[in-house]
Formats: sequence, structure tokens, C-alpha cells
Amino acid sequence: MLEGERGEAKALAMKLLVAVGGIFDAERMIRVRSVHVSGVSYKTIGEAGLEFLEDLCRKGAEAMVKTTLNPAGTDLTEWRRMGIPRDFARKQLRIISVFNMMRMYATCTCIPYFVGNRPRFGESVAWAESSAISFANSVLGARTNREGGPTALASSITGRTPLYGLHLDENRRPTHVVKVQSELQSDLDFSLLGYSLGRRLGYCVPFITGINAKGKLDHLKSLGASMATSGAIALYHIDGTTPESLSVRKRDLHSLERISLNNSELQSVKEELTSAERPRHVCLGCPHCSLEELGMVAKLVSGKRLKRKLWCFTSRKTYEEADKRGYISPIVRAGGMIVRDTCMVVSPLEKMGVEQILTNSCKAAHYLPSLSKVQVALKPFGECVRFAVE
Ligand code: F3S
Repeated sequence: MLEGERGEAKALAMKLLVAVGGIFDAERMIRVRSVHVSGVSYKTIGEAGLEFLEDLCRKGAEAMVKTTLNPAGTDLTEWRRMGIPRDFARKQLRIISVFNMMRMYATCTCIPYFVGNRPRFGESVAWAESSAISFANSVLGARTNREGGPTALASSITGRTPLYGLHLDENRRPTHVVKVQSELQSDLDFSLLGYSLGRRLGYCVPFITGINAKGKLDHLKSLGASMATSGAIALYHIDGTTPESLSVRKRDLHSLERISLNNSELQSVKEELTSAERPRHVCLGCPHCSLEELGMVAKLVSGKRLKRKLWCFTSRKTYEEADKRGYISPIVRAGGMIVRDTCMVVSPLEKMGVEQILTNSCKAAHYLPSLSKVQVALKPFGECVRFAVE
């Protein structure tokens, strides 16, 4: 591939992977089972990104393995209803059509693991999107480094990634023991915990004790998203919950650095991230809403009329499933909007007249003030929905 025998696009992609492998002293390339590509929104990649993708496609780029896409900058069909400027929407649709030509699935979601791209335990993949990476490594026990948009694309085109970092056993072992001294009640508490941890430890592999997260997949997706936002944590273990925590020997933990986190630290993170005083708009779905979360919204708003705007961001596939289960009509009847294919961070909220929002996501609270000049207040998922109703 490197020598161009399989075309120009593969040669370019392999050249990038070889360079990355060289930096990290990788011994060789390995095959990946799937890829998740970020850098899909026109808001984040702009004109230069669009031209780069079109050029790559002209050079014959095509996915060699199952490849899914992160959120785009708009709902691909309902952009007018969202108030997205026409030029932005046209550019976004061009980006999606190039990805389609390269046989990459326009799933447009950061929860690919809920919509058909769910790697198995121990499987090597090459994923971009920090929250998805964290979920794949920690909750599913798959193996991926923190890929960026270009390296993920290169892995899709070649089906390979360099063997280094989190693909190796030795780098998946815990580096710190974290004792949580707070009774975590809600999804927001998990998000605050992740944010505090990422900020305190930067890059590490924490072994977290003192929390019960069994079966709480939505809480875990929030935890990983915020951990990767304030720090660079791509893998965590939760004692007795995540799959690889079960093989960690207790005696190996004795020599590790220990830290503890308490409720007052979580509350001070919440205060720091709160910038909105009078939010009028509720945005949920960072990471994207799951089926269960849409079910919860439907239950809370059923038969009511919303007093404030409520937008739930999710994937097209989750939307379809939610519709089959009857979750969508109560939300729409109450006056809420389900927005597919995009998210509150990568869509141009600032161009849509949104100024202050209430959400449950530390990741959104971290990015929105600087990226979109949107102020944010935080409450747990259910309370956000109630706020829209009251
Ligand atoms: Fe997902 Fe967008 Fe948040 S990609 S994690 S919803 S910033």
C-alpha cells in the first residue's frame, strides 16, 4: 500500500499511519475491525476539510472496514426547521455525500456502539471521538487509541493501525486508584466526576472504586465523555463493573498513586462550568440520547405542553427505533424537537438565536461558551426535562 501498488489514496493513508507509528515506536501494523471517523461537521472542518475529503475521494479512497461517522453540523433533512443557514446546510450535505461515495456510513452519531458498530471484547478498532473511544475501551473492553479525524480516515482506507498505546496490554493497566467519597445519584454526578478526574489527572488509566455503575450505560457514557474533555483519559476501570477491572489483581494496585474525590469537589466543578443565569432552552444529548433516554423524556412530557424549548439530539437510527416504541409522538405533541444527525456542540447554535441553555453534560458546558458563545447551566437529565415542562 505504501508504495502505491493499491492506489494513491491508500498510499497517502498508509504514509500517515507509518509516520504516526514511527513517532510511537510501533513494531508493526495491525488490522482493525471497525473505524469511527470524527471531523464530519462543516462547522468544525470548514472549507479546507471539505476540499480535503473531495480530493481524497477523487484519488480513489474507500472504506476497507465498517466505518461510521460522528455527528454532522445539522439534521440532514430537517435543517430548515432547525434554522440552519442554507449555505451551511449545502456544504454539510456535500461532506456527507463524499463520505457516502467512500462507503462510510452516515450514522452521524457519537454513540456508534448503540447503532450497529459495537466492537467485541479485545477487538482492535481505530476510533475517533473522545466519548466513543472511552466507551469502547472501558465499557466494551475493545482496544483503540485516541484517533483524530485524519488517522481514523487513514485506518478506514487501509484497514490498519499502528500497534502502540492502548492496543498493548501493558498500557491498559491502571496507573492510579481513585476513591470516590460521594454518593453518586444522577447522570450529572457521573459527568461531574469524570470532569474532575480528567482535570486532576490529565492522561492516566484510573481504577475507580466506591461507585456502583452496574448496568448504567448512559451514566457511563457521560462519565467517559467528560473525563476525555477535561483530560485525555481514554480508558478507565470501575471496580467490579467494567470488564477489564475483573482481571486487575488487587495486589498490583498497592503501589499506585491514590487520590480521592468528594462531593464538594464535584459541586465546585458544577459551579465553575455554570455560566447561564436564565436558560430558556433545554438541550439534551451530549453524548447523543440513547433509546432509554428518549423513553424517559417521552414519559415525563406525555400529555403536557412544554413551556420552554426542548431539543433532544440523537442518531437517526435511535430515532427510528424510538418511533417504533412510541417515544417520539408524545415529545413532539408536547412541543419538543428531536434533532438527528447533529449535536449541540457541532451545530451552529449561535446562528440559530440560542444564547443560554440548560443541559446535563459537562462536555457541552466546557465547549459551548467558547465555541458558540452559548452560556450553560447544569442539571440532571430528568430535571432538565421537568424544567422544560414547568
Ligand atoms: Fe457527542 Fe457532540 Fe457531545 S459529538 S459527545 S454530542 S459534543
